[in-house]
Amino acid sequence: MEWDAKKYNTTHDFVFKYGAGLLELVPKEPKKVLDIGCGTGELTKQMAELGHEVTGIDQSLNMINQAKETYPELIFLQEDILNPSDQIGLYDVAFSNAVFHWIPDQDLLLKNIGEHLNVNGQLICEFGAVGNVQKIREAFGRELNALGVPFEEPFCFTSVENYRILLEKNHFEVVEILEYERPTPLKGGKSGLNEWMEQFYAAELEELSGEQKDKVLENMERDLKSKLWNEDHWEADYRRLRINAVKM
Ligand code: BEZ
Repeated sequence: MEWDAKKYNTTHDFVFKYGAGLLELVPKEPKKVLDIGCGTGELTKQMAELGHEVTGIDQSLNMINQAKETYPELIFLQEDILNPSDQIGLYDVAFSNAVFHWIPDQDLLLKNIGEHLNVNGQLICEFGAVGNVQKIREAFGRELNALGVPFEEPFCFTSVENYRILLEKNHFEVVEILEYERPTPLKGGKSGLNEWMEQFYAAELEELSGEQKDKVLENMERDLKSKLWNEDHWEADYRRLRINAVKM
């Protein structure tokens, strides 16, 4: 899927705004940091401002081009962490916000990250935990079912227990692993839910006719109103897994 970098950076800027809290886990002294799935580069920039030598990677060319345009002084590479090229190199910290749940092969992901970390290098990341945006996903699944359209969950939302096992298997020692609720207000008032769907379920919505898509989104709004509408905005039922681990 190619990303709409402009929309990500404006309407859905909560993705990196929430990521700012994760930065507090990054060591204070200057480190060589790999920002995995850097998107439009906002957190990459913030880490550079903290004195780190940061390389941002993303498999989306749109995102990388936007990041390079906004922050020409920083290093951004179009790279897939599941199939990295030799140009990536070795780091003290692997950082990632709101990315890992897009990656089906978590084992390969952790193996590759381990190969790009120095011994005692740190993995600091946050992504969707089990039950993430569950109400939205269930409502979408129901609508697609009603149309007879198969719904294949594109995300990997996992639990503390499962991820701890995976980290240890890949030679990481867990410093902290935390699962928490993070209700997330969506911008755009009434159209906030539709805009969120258009950004994050673009590929699935593209499979529908214009009429089907309008109906699905309309029914979802009706279905979710009592669960996720809060006075003047939609609030997505995000759940997060936050990890701080060290490569052995
Ligand atoms: C998330 O960041 O948690 C997320 C992104 C897209 C779809 C579902 C969840």
